[in-house]
Amino acid sequence: MNGNERPLAKKLYIRTFGCQMNVYDSARMADVLAPLGYVPVDQPDDADMVILNTCHIREKAAEKVFSDLGRLRAFKQRKASEGGTMVLAVAGCVAQAEGAEIVRRAPYVDMVFGPQAYHRLPEMVARAARAGGAVLDTDFPEESKFDHMVAPERPATPGADASSAFLTIQEGCDKFCTYCVVPYTRGAEYSRPVADVLAEARRLCARGAREITLLGQNVNCYHGRAVDGREWGLGRLVRELAEIEGLSRIRYTTSYPADVDDDLIAAHRDVPQLMPYLHLPVQSGSDRILKAMNRRHGADAYRALVEKLRAARPDLALSSDFIVGFPGESDRDFEDTYRLVEEIGFVQAYSFKYSPRPGTPAADMAMQVEEPVKGARLTRLQDLLNAQQRRFNADCVGRRMDILFDRLGKRAGQLAGRSPYMQPVIVDASKSLLGGVAAVRITDGHANSLGGLLVEDEDRDGVRKKVCA
Ligand code: 5AD
Ligand code: SF4
Repeated sequence: MNGNERPLAKKLYIRTFGCQMNVYDSARMADVLAPLGYVPVDQPDDADMVILNTCHIREKAAEKVFSDLGRLRAFKQRKASEGGTMVLAVAGCVAQAEGAEIVRRAPYVDMVFGPQAYHRLPEMVARAARAGGAVLDTDFPEESKFDHMVAPERPATPGADASSAFLTIQEGCDKFCTYCVVPYTRGAEYSRPVADVLAEARRLCARGAREITLLGQNVNCYHGRAVDGREWGLGRLVRELAEIEGLSRIRYTTSYPADVDDDLIAAHRDVPQLMPYLHLPVQSGSDRILKAMNRRHGADAYRALVEKLRAARPDLALSSDFIVGFPGESDRDFEDTYRLVEEIGFVQAYSFKYSPRPGTPAADMAMQVEEPVKGARLTRLQDLLNAQQRRFNADCVGRRMDILFDRLGKRAGQLAGRSPYMQPVIVDASKSLLGGVAAVRITDGHANSLGGLLVEDEDRDGVRKKVCA
């Protein structure tokens, strides 16, 4: 190889599970590995490195990882029989929580590392090449991974293009809700410095981002240090981001109700780019259960907070997470949740049956609720939530909304995008509008999506009709 040749491209396949933060982390892992010659591919079969970026929130998460690993092992063996190598890695929250167990049960895995260690990937790759066994890195390092990362190259996006991008500003959690593994897998709460966040946001916008979703396990407890040494809250950060040329939409997720401060509420009033849609998990409508969950809000405090937010931004729509069948939840507690859902009028939500996570306090609580009871409550709650979502979508018909088109539609001549309320919207539109925001008249409200007409076309049709009449 002469000095001008780049290293031969190696195929990197990353499979991402779980939350948006994992999507962001996967993009950063690809960035960190790029200088070693790794190029992302869409299939694991023949890859030189496969990373499973795992999520520990859902039930039986570890079992699913083991069954995926079983399949990947066959690819690895085939590759080895052809004289190649496949580096197999498990990253993310299952790796953090079950690292030693993975190494024991799946000794053919080369690297196991938690969410705080991926800046050390190049070093781990070198160690894995030297070592005969798996490299395990599940410490919580003293240094922050954000300080050791290359400038992001690959935008992490929910869509198919770069017009909507994720940006992690905060990570970890100190709240210790009694059902949740996150404080154990993602570690202590940490906020990235303001200058880093702004620089990354500007870079994303220069590459075509029109929408940025700020990410954090507890994003509204953001308290990043500014250059002058002061700490900025999320409201201040949002105001500054709104100054970036070309950035039309700002979102943030996930929020902790007790940490929503007045400045953030004021930002909802003052900053038009801050979208009128907020994911604000309440989990339960029963004070007794909220207390047992160690949530630091009661149901009435949540109601009062929503009232304040709506006073600041009257068109605000809310989404939430719910857990039904938490230990000790009675019929009455569940009815409190049901009533809260009706009162707040959530337009979207994720709802789950409580499932014990080993090592969390709730797993050892007495009065675990029986499965059939949990199932019946979940069905009732989801029926209500779905009905509210359908009603909201139907009520959107006739409204004019700005839609950000971030992917092609399934049929030729169609684009798909997102409304300010995150509803998928399908519109007949030319490809030239991809990656941009356009005004759309909503014509159809389905259960999970909307249909519409470009206002431009609607005006033209209107004129044509007048001419014909
Ligand atoms: N059981 C059920 N749902 C859970 N969640 C977190 N931990 C559990 C658990 N042990 C839900 C919460 C949280 C969402 C991301 O997942 O509702 O907000
Ligand atoms: Fe988990 Fe509670 Fe922290 Fe959210 S706030 S990540 S539910 S411990």
